[in-house]
Amino acid sequence: MSVVFRRNVARMEGYVPGEQPQEPGYIKLNTNENPYPPSPKVREAVLAELGDPLRLYPDPMATRLRRQAALTYRFDLPGVIAGNGSDDLLAMVARAFIGEGDVLACPSPTYTLYDTLVRIQGGRMVGVPYPKDYSLPPALARRKARVTVVASPNSPSGTGVPVRDLAALAEAVPGVLVVDEAYADFAEETALRLARERENVIVLRTLSKSFSLAGLRIGLGFAHPRIIDGLNKVKDSYNLSRLSIAAGTAALADIAWMERNAGRIRKTREALVAALPSVGFAPFPSQSNFVLARRAGGRSARPVYEALKRRKILVRYFDTPRLAGCLRITVGTDEEIGALLSAMREIR
Ligand SMILES: Cc1ncc(COP(=O)(O)O)c(C=O)c1O
Repeated sequence: MSVVFRRNVARMEGYVPGEQPQEPGYIKLNTNENPYPPSPKVREAVLAELGDPLRLYPDPMATRLRRQAALTYRFDLPGVIAGNGSDDLLAMVARAFIGEGDVLACPSPTYTLYDTLVRIQGGRMVGVPYPKDYSLPPALARRKARVTVVASPNSPSGTGVPVRDLAALAEAVPGVLVVDEAYADFAEETALRLARERENVIVLRTLSKSFSLAGLRIGLGFAHPRIIDGLNKVKDSYNLSRLSIAAGTAALADIAWMERNAGRIRKTREALVAALPSVGFAPFPSQSNFVLARRAGGRSARPVYEALKRRKILVRYFDTPRLAGCLRITVGTDEEIGALLSAMREIR
């Protein structure tokens, strides 16, 4: 066969997304989705778009959605970009800033897609280990990377770093600082003001988690207009569908719906964190809609994951050295978390 991939593509593993079972009946606590439905306004907006409008291409600039985002987050329109999920925005950042041999630095462990995107570009990811308390590692700024990415709250740890530390990092890095705020609506703080105040900060948001729209793929980026102009050059031309633009606009306009659900999830999270030690797991402090927890006694979490799966409850387990013995549990409804805890008691 004469098909020859670029060397870096031939060598890399593709990104492996979380398990999405195709049969029904699972309590799904493995990919940080929202257990509550999206705003009813989303349904109305999507229905209005079905039919004749689908003949036509969507607005390549997703102007309605960006205008609503600018209003909701008090940002100037030229500083807002929309993506097909925040994964799409991360891919644009990699395309725009990372060339052959360039470095992207991030604290680790973190969202593994960053590594995949950098490898596609032929660049190199440098992971700077988080200290035990998951505060920002001081060595991160010293890597002098073209791009530095911090997920805050981070996945899979669930921990967040203070915005004042991100501000100091933005000051210290020579390139751009991306703050991936996929879980910010469940956290105490947001770094959005840094994207307003500084020319080298990009803040990314998603409607997949807090807005219950993982199935539609809608992400938002906020930055200085000069950065947004650059990202626009490398984005897919029609990167959001008509349905996504309509749904995202309606969801952002009904912010109270999202906030009510995020509040319920935070409450359930605290109950889960309080209960985990009684089933033999020590939780890390979480500012997101999931909780990372380590099994007592240095034992692997895999058998617990497998036993839960047999009971049709899906969570994530980790067995890398840093995350040995860890489960990551998405915060579901009170009933779902109740079922999880009973199953964990039984398994124990
Ligand atoms: C840290 C982080 N960033 C981004 C994403 C991707 O979100 P989206 O669904 O908007 O592509 C995820 C999804 O799990 C995530 O954990």
